[in-house]
Amino acid sequence: MPHSPKEIIQSILPNSYQATQETAQAFAPANIALIKYWGKRDKILNLPNTSSLSLSLGNRGTTTQVSQTEKQDVIILNQQHVNPESHFYQRLVNYLSYFRPHPTFYFHIETQNTIPVAAGVASSSSGFAALVKALDIYFDWRLPLHQLSVLARLGSGSACRSLWDGFVLWHKGEEEDGLDSFAEPMTLTWPDLCVGLLMVDQSPKKYGSREAMNHTVETSPLYAYWPTVVEKDLASMVKAIQVRNFSAFGQILEGNACAMHATMLASRPAIIYHQPQTLALIDQIQRLREQGLSIFFSQDAGPNLKLFFLATDLKKVQKNFPTLEVVVP
Ligand code: PMV
Repeated sequence: MPHSPKEIIQSILPNSYQATQETAQAFAPANIALIKYWGKRDKILNLPNTSSLSLSLGNRGTTTQVSQTEKQDVIILNQQHVNPESHFYQRLVNYLSYFRPHPTFYFHIETQNTIPVAAGVASSSSGFAALVKALDIYFDWRLPLHQLSVLARLGSGSACRSLWDGFVLWHKGEEEDGLDSFAEPMTLTWPDLCVGLLMVDQSPKKYGSREAMNHTVETSPLYAYWPTVVEKDLASMVKAIQVRNFSAFGQILEGNACAMHATMLASRPAIIYHQPQTLALIDQIQRLREQGLSIFFSQDAGPNLKLFFLATDLKKVQKNFPTLEVVVP
């Protein structure tokens, strides 16, 4: 049974392969979890304790170009060379090392985000997904998407959901090697569902989702209840999307995000991603809702909020949140 990322990746990739073109490029959308992934049963393989459900952000995401270079891997992020000493570089190179066709093959990776990095807006999700898509083209593996989803998951859990547009379900899987833990697109659509990004702070967050998640699992007395919350929320969310019941959708969405943050608040010491402005915005959203405007929020591992509303309310929402970046997935 293969259990290290390298062995698992080797079991998916062809025995030998080489670049079939000079350069390859791919795009992957960022995704926002409607029902969150929080907590792993395997930290090395990014195997989750629960399934999760996301919505992809259309043309907001990452475009990545792969080619070969000499001597050492080169990573260019948003037109800037990434310092080889940085955590970002090390993490990516560690991941890339699983894919070298031979030990002295070095990658030149150029990546461009249309979404802020490390601000809790799921940029790592589209990053690893775009990278595996580009590698697949570059080496002509022609892997099915669910296998690319496994590869992306080994880079960052939520990345396994960024291989598709629309609503995407990540099955937690049961196997120890995680080959059954991949995402899949749902056949459901909701054309007038809108998402807006409410940026509070674009600087890198205090703690990464990886550390925060592990700390919560290890120390939060409320975490034990989280899998039960997710199971219920996931089933009700699928129903709400099927019948396009926006108010049920919004209540489950918001409740699930708040429950995730509650597990973090109860961890010791507490993990608090909320900033004063995050709370002020939540208050504003709740007041507007009392006045009849149907808007709901979600929040990930950062202080920023995602607003959900229907296209009919777009003008009103924009009037109340002039800085909102609207995405119609
Ligand atoms: O995939 P990671 O390690 O960046 O974790 C993502 C965690 C959340 O964004 C908070 C939830 C999710 O399901 O995307």
